[in-house]
Amino acid sequence: MIELKNIEKVYNQGTPREVRALKNISLSIERGEIFGVIGLSGAGKSTLIRHINMLERPSSGQVIVDGMDLTAMSESQLREARRHIGMIFQSFNLLSSATVSDNIAFPLKLEGKMSDDEIKARVAELLALVGLEDKAQMYPAQLSGGQKQRVGIARALANNPKILLCDEATSALDPKTTMSILKLLLELRDKLNLTIVIITHQMEVIKECCDRVAVIDGGVISEMGSTLDLFTDPKEALTKRLVSAAVRRGLPELLRHTEIVPEYTDGAKAVIELLFLGPKADAPVIVEVAMQCKVKISMLGGSIDHIKNEPFGLMVVEVGGSRDEIKHAIEELQARVHKVEILGYDQRKQLADF
Ligand SMILES: Nc1ncnc2c1ncn2[C@@H]1O[C@H](COP(=O)(O)OP(=O)(O)OP(=O)(O)O)[C@@H](O)[C@H]1O
Ligand SMILES: [Mg+2]
Repeated sequence: MIELKNIEKVYNQGTPREVRALKNISLSIERGEIFGVIGLSGAGKSTLIRHINMLERPSSGQVIVDGMDLTAMSESQLREARRHIGMIFQSFNLLSSATVSDNIAFPLKLEGKMSDDEIKARVAELLALVGLEDKAQMYPAQLSGGQKQRVGIARALANNPKILLCDEATSALDPKTTMSILKLLLELRDKLNLTIVIITHQMEVIKECCDRVAVIDGGVISEMGSTLDLFTDPKEALTKRLVSAAVRRGLPELLRHTEIVPEYTDGAKAVIELLFLGPKADAPVIVEVAMQCKVKISMLGGSIDHIKNEPFGLMVVEVGGSRDEIKHAIEELQARVHKVEILGYDQRKQLADF
C-alpha cells in the first residue's frame, strides 16, 4: 500500500544550516497493516510521515502509494491523491469556532461534491463510527482530549481514505484515554480495511496495536521487524532502551546491590530470566522443572503482559542446587520456554540454607 524507496531529505541544502533529516529510508507497508515508527525527538519521524502524503517532497527517492508514484505527480494530481490519505495530529488541529459536526463536515464542504443533506448524513455516520453521537453540537473547548481526538479521527476519515497517518496522536492524552483511542484505531482498521501508520515515541503505543515497527535514529532506520520480534529480541541499543521502558527486564532492583557474579561458584544459585511467549505462556514449567531436576526454584519477579493479543511473560527466578543439577535445569528450561538468559550467580547464603 505504501512504499518508500531510498528517501533522502535534506533541509537548507548547501547552506551552513543544512540538515540531513532522512537518510536512504526504504520501507514497505502492506494494505490493512498497522505500522509503527518509533524514535527519539528529532529522529525524523514527522519528516518521514509527511513524505507519505507528500506534505514534504523528498530530496531524492520515490514515494509510491497504492501503486501510484506520488513523487512524479503535479500539485493538482497530488491534491486528488491526498484525498485517500487522512491524517491526525497530537494537537488535534480542530477549528475552535466550529461545532463538532462542522469540524467533521469541513473536508466534505471543501471538496464540494456532496449536497447539504448528504453531508449531514455522512457526518452522522462518522459521529457514530467514533462514538460521539451526543456531542454533535458542542464546541472543541467543551470536549476532553480523547473526545477531541475522536473528532480528529472522524474528520480524517470523512473522505473515505485508504490510509490514516497518525503523528503522535495519543501523546497529549492520559494512559487510559490513549488505550481507548488505540482500541478505536484497531476497530477502524478492521471495519474499514484501513492501512494505518503510527508515529510515536512511546513503546506502549507500539505494544498495544502495531503489527510491525521501524525504529528511526538520526534519520536512519536502525531496526525494523514484527512488534513481537522487537519486544522479545531487540538487537540495537536504542531498541533495547525503548523496550525496557515499556517492559521491565533484567535484574530486579533488590538484587542489583547484592553479589551477583558472572561464573558459578560453589553453593551459588543461578539467577535466570525466562521469557514465555504465546499459548504456552501459562504452562506449569517452573514446577515441572523443579520436580524433574530436583532443584529449588524461587521467583524473584516477573509479569505477564500482552503484545497485541499474544501473551508474553517475563520472569526472573533463582535456581539452587549442585552445579550439575543447575545445568540440567537450565537445559530443561531452554527446551520449554521461548528464551532463557542467565543473568548471573547469587552467592548470598540465605537463612533457609542453614
Ligand atoms: N522545515 C524544516 N527545516 C529545517 N530543518 C527541519 C525542518 N523540519 C524538520 N527539520 C529537522 O529535521 C530533523 C527531524 O525532525 P522531525 O520533526 O522529523 O523529528 P521528530 O522525530 O518528529 O521529532 P519529535 O519527536 O520532537 O516530533 C530535526 O533535526 C529537525 O530540526
Ligand atoms: Mg515529530
